[in-house]
Amino acid sequence: MGKGSGYGKVILFGEHFVVHGVAGIVSAIDSSTDAIVSKGESGLVVKDDRKTAKGYSEEKRLQQIESIERMLKAMDLDPKLPLDIWIGGSLPGFSGLGASAASSVAIARAINEEFGLNLSNEKINQVAYEAEIAYAGNPSGIDNTAATYGGLMWFKKDSTGGPDLVERLKIQMPIEIVICSTGKVANTKAMVEGVAERKKANPAKYEPLFSQAGDLTVAGRSALEAGKLEKVGELMNENHRILQEIGVSSVELDYLVDVARKQGAIGAKLTGGGGGGCMVALTPGKDLQEKVANAFRAEGLEVLATKIGVIAR
Ligand code: PMV
Repeated sequence: MGKGSGYGKVILFGEHFVVHGVAGIVSAIDSSTDAIVSKGESGLVVKDDRKTAKGYSEEKRLQQIESIERMLKAMDLDPKLPLDIWIGGSLPGFSGLGASAASSVAIARAINEEFGLNLSNEKINQVAYEAEIAYAGNPSGIDNTAATYGGLMWFKKDSTGGPDLVERLKIQMPIEIVICSTGKVANTKAMVEGVAERKKANPAKYEPLFSQAGDLTVAGRSALEAGKLEKVGELMNENHRILQEIGVSSVELDYLVDVARKQGAIGAKLTGGGGGGCMVALTPGKDLQEKVANAFRAEGLEVLATKIGVIAR
């Protein structure tokens, strides 16, 4: 029996744009997915005990099978190897929190232990990237990197296929955030493909937006490192506006962003693939965090009140 785990994440700046080589900023959150793997008798048996948004496991089932086969291949194992896999842990299966990458890292680590492969974190990260292809089509690699290493990081995909640029960011102290789920499962692959198609069809509209997104990430990094949280919030709001313009927000996400801001959050945006999934609000201090979280709870919505800039391996 082998065990492993992977962190969930929130993207503070740059989702979607990172796929096309723009830098992004991501933070692991203190919720993770755990996996237990044992050699099986026949075929692949996956028991998924994660708390999920309605329909999440069904929607992702085929992508999950493909992702596990891809990982086995990347570890030089037979992709049809019979395995019994259990998945659980504190990270809910809501779209947008990197749940697929967290589960892939957890499973890769558990397979590594069960088969005594002695893989490094770097290799686990590569294996989980292979799995992400099943879920996201053309992933940037930001999710599996955050799921493997944790912490707060700057991430830039190398568009020539070389190593990605990953830098740890230091902030003065961890910052409270509120994540709220729309309850709607999103298909990351379809969202990523949609952006690529629209960008290709309308470069005059999309290219300036991509360049603005890059500027926002740079400004976001400076503001985070300088502890200028009001500025970070302002830039997150601006990032949400650009995400609306590239067509990845939704009525539900815009509503959650609006509620968070009205309750005093200093910034709020969709996080992850959009089209459903989750919203993240910057709510420094316990009191503000509770106020914003309670407003969502009062509406019967699922909330994670956590911090950025804490967890790292
Ligand atoms: O929705 P999630 O948690 O899978 O995040 C996707 C993030 C994207 O930037 C849209 C895709 C990627 O691979 O970076």
